[in-house]
Amino acid sequence: MRITLDTIVKDNDPILRTKSEDVALPLSMEDRQLLNDMITYVRDSTDPELAEKYNLRPAVGIAAIQVGVPKKMLAIVIHEEEETIEHLLVNPRIVSNSAQYAYLKMGEGCLSVVDEYQGYVPRSARITVEGFDALKNQNVRIRARGYEAIVLQHELDHFKGTLFYDRINKEDPFKEIDDAMIID
Ligand code: NI
Repeated sequence: MRITLDTIVKDNDPILRTKSEDVALPLSMEDRQLLNDMITYVRDSTDPELAEKYNLRPAVGIAAIQVGVPKKMLAIVIHEEEETIEHLLVNPRIVSNSAQYAYLKMGEGCLSVVDEYQGYVPRSARITVEGFDALKNQNVRIRARGYEAIVLQHELDHFKGTLFYDRINKEDPFKEIDDAMIID
């Protein structure tokens, strides 16, 4: 079933705060279908014609809980100048992270968050993630830095029921972060 902006759970729904569970491998037909729907959403969302046709809000990532399924699955599509990075991950987890922080200069957004929340969202500048890659059908180890690392951490946060604005400094949203990698 096609995911649209209407089927995405918004942050006024407490289910978004649910902890996601591990997914059984090998993947069931149902889980594989959901993963396919998730990556299709993210791929199509940045195509202006498809976005208009199917009511998609542009995104770089989505987690299963955002369609109401508390399972550890995420899809990411990042268009870079030279290449497109795609991750369709099952049971991913961070196995190491840098002490250095990184943040997006313009702050973060989320398909489940309608209101704008301004402020820096501090995250690790570099992470290593392990999990099952449903595009390659094998276990993978991903070393990510900068923007890719931030997007991965944003989606992994959804597994814990954490939203990006939870991480913004409440007293001083634009407080400088020492030695951070700042991403335009
Ligand atoms: Ni999100």
